[in-house]
Amino acid sequence: MLLLDVFLVLLLPTSAALRSSGEAALDELIAPEMPRKRVAIIGAGAGGASTAFHLSQNAKDAGIPTDITIFERSSHIGGRTTTVNAWSDPTTPIELGASIFVEVNTILHDAAKHFNLSTSSAEIPKAEGMPDLGVWNGEEFVLITSNEDGWWEKAKLLWRYGLAPIRTNSLMKSTVGKFLKMYEEPLFPWKSLSEAAEEVGLRDVTAVTGRQFLEANGIGAKFADEVIQASTRVNYASNIALIHGLETMVCMATNGAMSIKGGNWQIFAHMLKDSATTHLNTTITKISKQDDDTFSLTTSSGDTSTFDHVVLSAPLQFSNLEIEPAPKHTPDHIPYVKLHVTLFASPNKLDPAAFNMEPGKVVPQYVLTTLADGEDYGSSPNGVGKAGFFSISVSGSGLNPKSSPPYRPEYIYKIFSPLRIDSEFLSKILGTKVPEHEQEDNGPVTWIYHKVYYSYPYEYPRVTFEEIKLDDKLWYTSGIESFISTMETSALMGKNVAKLMVNEWSEEQSDGQKEASGELKMQDEGEWRFGSLRDEQQKPIKAKL
Ligand SMILES: Cc1cc2nc3c(=O)[nH]c(=O)nc-3n(C[C@H](O)[C@H](O)[C@H](O)COP(=O)(O)OP(=O)(O)OC[C@H]3O[C@@H](n4cnc5c(N)ncnc54)[C@H](O)[C@@H]3O)c2cc1C
Ligand SMILES: *[C@@H]1O[C@H](CO)[C@@H](O)[C@H](O)[C@H]1NC(C)=O
Ligand SMILES: *[C@@H]1O[C@H](CO)[C@@H](O)[C@H](O)[C@H]1NC(C)=O
Repeated sequence: MLLLDVFLVLLLPTSAALRSSGEAALDELIAPEMPRKRVAIIGAGAGGASTAFHLSQNAKDAGIPTDITIFERSSHIGGRTTTVNAWSDPTTPIELGASIFVEVNTILHDAAKHFNLSTSSAEIPKAEGMPDLGVWNGEEFVLITSNEDGWWEKAKLLWRYGLAPIRTNSLMKSTVGKFLKMYEEPLFPWKSLSEAAEEVGLRDVTAVTGRQFLEANGIGAKFADEVIQASTRVNYASNIALIHGLETMVCMATNGAMSIKGGNWQIFAHMLKDSATTHLNTTITKISKQDDDTFSLTTSSGDTSTFDHVVLSAPLQFSNLEIEPAPKHTPDHIPYVKLHVTLFASPNKLDPAAFNMEPGKVVPQYVLTTLADGEDYGSSPNGVGKAGFFSISVSGSGLNPKSSPPYRPEYIYKIFSPLRIDSEFLSKILGTKVPEHEQEDNGPVTWIYHKVYYSYPYEYPRVTFEEIKLDDKLWYTSGIESFISTMETSALMGKNVAKLMVNEWSEEQSDGQKEASGELKMQDEGEWRFGSLRDEQQKPIKAKL
């Protein structure tokens, strides 16, 4: 009899020590038989933070006690969403990675409201006296627009592009409408992204290139090449003959563009604050499944800890993880864009001569690029062409604390390019000699920051996407990046995984209740016990027995 009691205590993994807070005690009252679910999330970007936030909420709603731990190898929350400070001055943070989200991105938009974060209507405050946007093809600006354009400029655009802008807008709206169905029941939560895409009618859109999709919808080549391609290049470093139709439409969905003042990463930091224990500077090197069906996670410093469920919220191919045994589904290694992001501060405007403009003309605040006439790279990823870069924009302005006299007003520029930006390139676009070491307190470049990202996949057309559940209790959020790679979609996948997990637990719980009331036969009791006895934690106690 005594032996049986000890057995039972050992077999229930619920640890009394874990329940210190009043909330935990309440959980216990609600669900007396539920062992706490221990969940590890690897990666504290948009995907991981959203998983933790929604899992914590859903589990609470379902009365399932849950401990969430998130491991992040870098020193910050946000992953590819992060800021750096111009001149190392904390009052001038600049987005280095993901900078913009839009109104239909309801997860981010609602979270910003919920956490009282202030948004600014665009990343970039309007720079006085500059046209807003130009599209440069390496030879000339094929298009320059200003918000203040009068009827004559607008009429010229109408003449140039005809109905294409209006057609594009309605095609974009209908595509976004299909995508938004993925947020709602009955489709949400989806166990398979491939099936969900099919169900909402987006599989045909990811199956073709942007160019094919636009052609099939009667959108003229001129608008596609000059405007839409400029957008796919600034957003995904890809021409429309490479990137699939859905991502092409995402690039045109710019209504209500906004960002969080001080940095978008704050959304994810707030999401984690009350939902998970966050370990920064902690790299997971190994996930191994134990005989008792739990996972042991190993960090690069050799620490291990045990969890019931694991969510991988980073592209597997960049996570340097060993998973043992290999999961049922292992995500494919796919090509990612290697993008050079260069931020720098300068008192100078861009030199019109560098863009074949007449002296005295002003270069636009956003210089987007496209291919020149006769340049055709097909679906080659090396399609930057004569322009040599994807975009240069005035990303903000600031007061240089190191100039003499101090606090000289300067522009802060952002360049996206396939290769490293050097002093020769900077000299050319600024129209003045930039020294080889680039940065000088009173020079033409007073602060510079170089970063290389594996920023997003090359979004080649495809119709299947990685599994969400790699194996029993092992989940993966990053497969959505081949469908759409944005902060919002990573957050959506996190929310989806959180819901799938809690739904499974609720099913288990109701199976368990049926079991207790004799409706279900216990399965394979002997083996279960045998497995549990092999759990690490129980070994020393077993020896005492
Ligand atoms: C330059 C640039 C511009 C962009 N612009 C936009 C934009 O304007 N709008 C937009 O919505 N999106 C934009 N994106 C895309 C957007 O940043 C990503 O789609 C999104 O941030 C991905 O989030 P995630 O959580 O899935 O992955 P990540 O943000 O990459 O997070 C994964 C995290 O996992 C961590 N990690 C990996 N392996 C391990 C390990 N073994 N142990 C512990 N931690 C690990 C990583 O350090 C990382 O922090 C841009 C991206 C870049 C690079
Ligand atoms: C992580 O590492 C960075 C740089 O090594 C350090 O500045 C920071 O304090 C560390 N953060 C934590 C939470 O350990
Ligand atoms: C946000 O602000 C409102 C009113 O200013 C306040 O009532 C609310 O508690 C705040 N929420 C958070 C999460 O800080």
